[in-house]
Amino acid sequence: MSDDKIILTGIKPTGIPHIGNYLGALKSLIEKSQTNKTIVFIADLHALNSIHNAAEIKQHTYEIAALLVSLGLNMDNAILFRQSDIDAIYKLNTFLMNVTPKGLMNRAHSYKAILEKNATTGDDPDNGVNMGLYTYPILMSADILLYNADIVPVGSDQKQHVEFARDIAEYFNRTYGNMFRLPEPQIGRDIGLIPGLDGRKMSKSYDNTIPLFAPENELKKKIMRIITDSKLPNEPKNPDESTIYLLYKHFATDADIANMRDMFEKGKIGYGDAKKMLFDAINSYLAEPRKKYEYLMSHTDELDKILANGANMADKIANKTIERVKHAMLG
Ligand code: TRP
Repeated sequence: MSDDKIILTGIKPTGIPHIGNYLGALKSLIEKSQTNKTIVFIADLHALNSIHNAAEIKQHTYEIAALLVSLGLNMDNAILFRQSDIDAIYKLNTFLMNVTPKGLMNRAHSYKAILEKNATTGDDPDNGVNMGLYTYPILMSADILLYNADIVPVGSDQKQHVEFARDIAEYFNRTYGNMFRLPEPQIGRDIGLIPGLDGRKMSKSYDNTIPLFAPENELKKKIMRIITDSKLPNEPKNPDESTIYLLYKHFATDADIANMRDMFEKGKIGYGDAKKMLFDAINSYLAEPRKKYEYLMSHTDELDKILANGANMADKIANKTIERVKHAMLG
């Protein structure tokens, strides 16, 4: 697939991505960057409503940049930068405030979830809601419209936000003449559940994640801790119910996957050995990227250069848009 559609997405620097995040979103983004112009930014302004600690946001920003580069984001096609480095984003945010109905923000799922939580605890409805959170979808719309994105790959939790961007763009275009392309959300194909160490969905909030770039011995320890049932090595087991197999599927070759499947079904392997196979598969998949990641994280000046270069390119696109918007709205 190669076309001239502009793909854009933002990643919030609120934590270190784990294997579940990689398989769920980052992997397909990196694949897309092999063929398409891909605009990827680290959405540090979006982290601000929840993290009030500069060092923490900065550290996560480096981690995400290093991670994308080391896992093979194609830098010939990708523009990788820090959201806050682009002056035009603050401007477009202000402009869009004035064409965005308040009612649209009231409908945002993420905001409504907080209202509901406050209602159940009997707190004031606005408890824990700052204006950054309330207007989050406007800033996100600015992100998308500033760079004329056609396609916005996001998780299903962000679909509504991309639809808001489209609504705001349509409203703007009706009022001020044709300005913005109408973006479309692209929800990744369903890759099935990525289970964590305890078998539930891998998620930071369950504390069951496997980090992407843990040192080898730590990775091994984590994998050996995967919870299994008590079936003996010679008992047949259903691979599709095993965390080990469900993870292995994403890291091994087709032949090796078929082989593990067969051994599970025929009772030819115990969980301990299967875990070793899983460790070897993940470890060899990640060995090279891990080296690169560790190198970049200990040479953050190189990351600064990469991000500055990306910001330079992004600025050019953004400045063109903002001049046109300013002219349309203020003359
Ligand atoms: N809100 C997104 C998230 O939490 C991150 C994000 C910010 C984003 N700006 C964006 C995603 C623009 C896509 C396009 O995951």
